[in-house]
Amino acid sequence: ASLTNFNTFGIAATARYFTEITHEDELVELFLDEQWKHLPRLVLGGGSNMLFVKDFDGLVIRMNIRGIEHRINHEYVIVEAGAGEVWNELVTYCVNYGFAGMENLSLIPGSVGASPIQNIGAYGVELKDVFHSCRAFEIATGKSRTFLKDECGFGYRESVFKSELKGQYIITQVKFELSLNPNLNLGYGAIQQELEKNNIANPTIKDVSAVVSRIRVSKLPDPSTIGNAGSFFKNPVIGEELFKQIHAQFPEVVNYPTADGGIKLAAGWLIEQCGWKGKTVGNTGTWKNQALVLVNHGEATGSEVYTLSSQIIDSVYTKFGVMLEREVNIIN
Ligand code: EPU
Repeated sequence: ASLTNFNTFGIAATARYFTEITHEDELVELFLDEQWKHLPRLVLGGGSNMLFVKDFDGLVIRMNIRGIEHRINHEYVIVEAGAGEVWNELVTYCVNYGFAGMENLSLIPGSVGASPIQNIGAYGVELKDVFHSCRAFEIATGKSRTFLKDECGFGYRESVFKSELKGQYIITQVKFELSLNPNLNLGYGAIQQELEKNNIANPTIKDVSAVVSRIRVSKLPDPSTIGNAGSFFKNPVIGEELFKQIHAQFPEVVNYPTADGGIKLAAGWLIEQCGWKGKTVGNTGTWKNQALVLVNHGEATGSEVYTLSSQIIDSVYTKFGVMLEREVNIIN
């Protein structure tokens, strides 16, 4: 089966077997079957955070469990969504109902089921800020269980689902806790500038959602026309010693102190300083408005993109002594 339409990078990889799941019971049946149980498998949501470096010699399970419901409880609301719902459609649903909390996460590509795995985040908000719990299918036992927020080990682009429990559970449904009294998060500079530009003094959650969407469109390539998977690397967190050295040489280095005493650097800035911004290399390259995003200019193979990412890691390391880590899942 071709995976070209199932990864936002638009890489023409194939899967040996492919199946789509629309109900949790289908997962139970799938893993009762000896034929499928022991194959290498890959669970796919929106395919917006993966790079296929090779064809996948196993079973691709595309999660397509749908449905969004909500229950209002005085000041807050619980919204339940199937793993296969499109993330931005859920955000739109909540914004239209006036449920606050997700508006800064507007227009992030991908599915609801994938959102907890890397604790998606943007413009000062992370998934964990609105996450209540999720239901997940345990492959080894065929049983489903609930994970409460405290059990998910959320961190910056991190959770137990991509570390300790990697490959053991399949998320089938996510519950969110949203508010009926908006407590807007407008701290991000780009949001403030955009609100001012449009003379919006008292923004509603709809305004914030619209503003965030506009910022994203201006900075990030649209995967339906230019293949990409958003930020390709994480923003690195370094120690004070290394920061001092870098700062002495590059006083303008973009940096944010973290809660635990580290310093987070903007990977996009580091990459731009190495001369990569907007550069085309064969069929791949970095985006002209955001060097952290690697793109497929048409016919790129996964290994071409991967090679470019290795070159970028090397040059950032050589110039700054900082080792970038890939944020995108590499399938090889
Ligand atoms: N910058 C540059 N050159 C570039 C890109 C960025 O100098 O080519 C500088 C900017 O000037 C800015 C700073 O880097 O001062 C931060 O840039 P930006 O606001 O675009 O955010 P980011 O740190 O590059 C992160 C997330 C994005 C998220 C934005 C907005 C990661 C890995 N990425 O990017 O998430 O949308 O913040 O909150 O944390 C994603 O994960 O796929 C993603 C797109």
